[in-house]
Amino acid sequence: MIKKNVSLKHYNTFGIDVNAKEFASVKSLEDLKSILKSNPLKLLVLGGGSNVLLTKNVEELVLHINLKGIEICEKNNKTTQIKVAAGENWHDFVMWTLDRNLGGLENLSLIPGNIGTAPIQNIGAYGVELKDSFISCEAVNLKTLEIEIFSNDDCKFEYRNSIFKSEYKGQYIITAVTFELTNINHKLKTAYGAITNELKQMGVLTPTIQDVSKAVIAIRQSKLPDPKKLGNSGSFFKNPVVSKETFETLSKQFPNMPNYAVSKMEVKIPAGWLIETAGFKGKTFGNHGVHKHQALVLVNYGGASGHDILALSKLIQTTIKTIFGIVLETEVIIL
Ligand code: EPU
Repeated sequence: MIKKNVSLKHYNTFGIDVNAKEFASVKSLEDLKSILKSNPLKLLVLGGGSNVLLTKNVEELVLHINLKGIEICEKNNKTTQIKVAAGENWHDFVMWTLDRNLGGLENLSLIPGNIGTAPIQNIGAYGVELKDSFISCEAVNLKTLEIEIFSNDDCKFEYRNSIFKSEYKGQYIITAVTFELTNINHKLKTAYGAITNELKQMGVLTPTIQDVSKAVIAIRQSKLPDPKKLGNSGSFFKNPVVSKETFETLSKQFPNMPNYAVSKMEVKIPAGWLIETAGFKGKTFGNHGVHKHQALVLVNYGGASGHDILALSKLIQTTIKTIFGIVLETEVIIL
């Protein structure tokens, strides 16, 4: 079951070619537990590999979580609860829900990655986050090998963050996630400017959840590179949050700076705008660079190493710090 010396090139969406000393793809909970019993804690867990930058060969055992299955657990006339195994592909599951006219995940169409890794960073797009329809998840505690259930509150979801990325980092493997979706009276979230425009262009006056999904897919395809064609990991950085005072000072110098109030005291500034304004958008550095349509995305044109991309991300961070005094944090996990 455990293979030796496996290239991880096809297991991370950046397409970085590093070697795993040992690799196992697990298809059942039994397999997972038996592997965990003999390899306590020396692991690297990979789901869809869509939010990692691999910078070196991996000495630990790489576990590829390949658990499959979608199960309807509860259904009443308003909502349906569905339990999904961690190894299911996120976008395929979103399409599955839309085929059954279940609402809640349409704005999250076309996000790369798998079900099991989605809660770790509370994936989000176009005004919706995973936490909005998340009921619970099951996760194996790597110390006890018992399955534990985490409610929505237990997960401490925040913007691109959860307990699995903070306090419990590296301590659990998520094996399944349960969502609650609407059967009727779907609450459409179309306020995000780009969605409204796209629906208008599509000639849709009274959108369905399927229309919203189509609009999101069109917007994403126009801005974000398809990882199957061009290695990338979506947004490489988080959008920074600064104090209102910092924002007011900066906006005197940069009156066009886009901004979103997060609270009375704090303002979120799009990292993409900062990076574009610093002149990086569309810049290439040999075999890697900054995407031409979305400056938040770093891309591997083929053959780049994790170090190349990490060096570029550091150059961007120091430049942004110098120009704007803002610290950009990576969204992608650097390994
Ligand atoms: N902008 C620029 N230049 C750029 C990119 C963006 O000026 O190169 C400006 C836009 O003009 C706009 C603002 O930044 O005023 C926001 O841009 P956009 O709506 O495209 O969203 P984003 O902040 O760049 C975030 C998420 C995306 C998500 C979109 C839509 C983060 C770090 N990123 O991007 O998530 O799809 O909103 O909701 O929060 C991901 O996490 O991998 C991801 C792609």
